[in-house]
Amino acid sequence: MPHKHHSGRAFASDNWAGVHPEVLSAMAAANAGHVPSYGADPYTREAIERIRAELGEDAEVFLVFSGTAANVLCLQSMVRSHQAVICAETAHVYTSECGAAEKQIGCKLLTAPAPHGKITVAGVREHLRYIGNEHHAQPRAVSITQATEYGTVYTPHEIREIADFAHENSLLLHMDGARIFNAAVHLDVPLRAITSDAGIDALSFGGTKNGLMTGEAVIFFDQQLAQDFEFRRMQGMQLASKMRFLGAQFIALFTNALWRRSALHANRMAQLLATELAGIPGVKLTQRVQANEIFAILPAEIVPSLQERWPFHIWNDSTSEARLITSFDTEEADVTDFASKVREAIGAGEKQWI
Ligand SMILES: Cc1ncc(COP(=O)(O)O)c(C=O)c1O
Repeated sequence: MPHKHHSGRAFASDNWAGVHPEVLSAMAAANAGHVPSYGADPYTREAIERIRAELGEDAEVFLVFSGTAANVLCLQSMVRSHQAVICAETAHVYTSECGAAEKQIGCKLLTAPAPHGKITVAGVREHLRYIGNEHHAQPRAVSITQATEYGTVYTPHEIREIADFAHENSLLLHMDGARIFNAAVHLDVPLRAITSDAGIDALSFGGTKNGLMTGEAVIFFDQQLAQDFEFRRMQGMQLASKMRFLGAQFIALFTNALWRRSALHANRMAQLLATELAGIPGVKLTQRVQANEIFAILPAEIVPSLQERWPFHIWNDSTSEARLITSFDTEEADVTDFASKVREAIGAGEKQWI
């Protein structure tokens, strides 16, 4: 993908979007006077209360900077180095975090098939045959991503099924919730329906992709996992000295349901883009569009010129499958302009062959 500087909105990632103005103002408003550092400030306290109000009063909540760190620190609290985490073959923690979990924890990641981004009980079961055999890393946790790396969404029932199976087999269940808000609004359920109520033990709670500048949380529903976590977070270099600014961002996210408004908007833009693209001969959607990601095969020859104006990633070079992501600030015109350009480019290509 060309990485020219350009000031328009793109479909490359919800990380390419800026900070939601309401979040930025909340940070500016928090920028007054001195408050205690390292999380002993009123903003952090309120943020934790707001998160507990959504996820359950017993949730143990710790703010951190990045999604990768949240994943690693969650998993580090769940497994030891001779143990293993079972995750989707497409899982971000497996494919895109430079082996951070393996390095920091020393554990093994075992992959399960996930054609639509979702693992199944059968896929988890496959890895249990060597339990008790010292020649094999011992599965101790399962990690699922919500929404998945393919933009699909686990239903509360699907999560519960995996959670029950995991718990019956002495495994813990982690959720990488980098796009948890997009999943919740797609399902139209409260956040706790896909986390605490569905049997999740530890959650990477992602704010950045939904409009924060930098703000994620590590959340434990199993209190034992939280033991000593403050020490792990510090050793893991994720204890923010000026934590009030992380707190202020989460407070903004839960003020007037900003999380819901932003995620609903991003999902709605994704639906619009999917509908537009589905109507263009020569374009093929490859995954169900449920959250804010679209996977579509585009004719390879039209990709570079599209990317000049609307940067996006090619997910699979061999099939020319593109990944397009919408965000809180995607506008309808971005979607319709992009779709007309695709239509036009495909039309121009066809004419050359006449
Ligand atoms: C599913 C998923 N998990 C985790 C992350 C990691 O987040 P960060 O880039 O903040 O480390 C990402 C970011 O792209 C992601 O898509």
